[in-house]
Amino acid sequence: MTTYHVGYFVGSLAKGSINRLLAKALVRLAPPELKLHEIAFKELPLYSYDYDADYPPVAKAFKQAIADSDAILFVTPEYNRSIPGGLKNAIDWASRPWGQNSFARKPSGVIGTSPGSIGTAVAQSHLRGVLCFCNSPLMNNVEAYIQFKPGLITADGEVTNEDTAEFLRNYMTELHAFIVRVLTVLPRNT
Ligand code: FNR
Repeated sequence: MTTYHVGYFVGSLAKGSINRLLAKALVRLAPPELKLHEIAFKELPLYSYDYDADYPPVAKAFKQAIADSDAILFVTPEYNRSIPGGLKNAIDWASRPWGQNSFARKPSGVIGTSPGSIGTAVAQSHLRGVLCFCNSPLMNNVEAYIQFKPGLITADGEVTNEDTAEFLRNYMTELHAFIVRVLTVLPRNT
């Protein structure tokens, strides 16, 4: 069995984040081939290209965590019909310095939850545009727009609705298959 390391970003910085609950659920539901670990970005300062000549240690460690991952999973809320500012800041750090874009050829997936009925669809659409520019091969299908209802996911990441659990399990199975396909034609470090 080949193991793939998937770094995940939780787009929310809130302590009570429902997207963090979703990430916990995805860790539990992932097939055994996927090992998930969070890539935190809360400590990154606001990006400016003034940093490009000498990234601070926190940004170097952040980029190294992406480099060490076979794929990236974005679990994000929608803020004002787009992605949260903290997540965009993290992506900007990762994409630079010029010529050292951490997302280039790195497979990715996007998912998110909100109480609203379109379940982060607009934020995910914006994020897809950003990742497309960053040259990340992006899983287009399955799409996952999860409407969060109170109690849907417990504090330790158990999904209480079996249909939703099955949908998320399938999402992770498809993500695994997508990563295998991408890395077959675009092996790492080539
Ligand atoms: C929101 N929320 C929200 N929801 C949505 O579906 N579409 C939106 O555009 C917005 N906009 C928005 C802006 C801001 C600044 C906040 C704080 C919230 C509601 C949002 O979905 C809800 O707060 C979720 O709990 C956010 O996910 P996390 O941060 O809990 O993971």
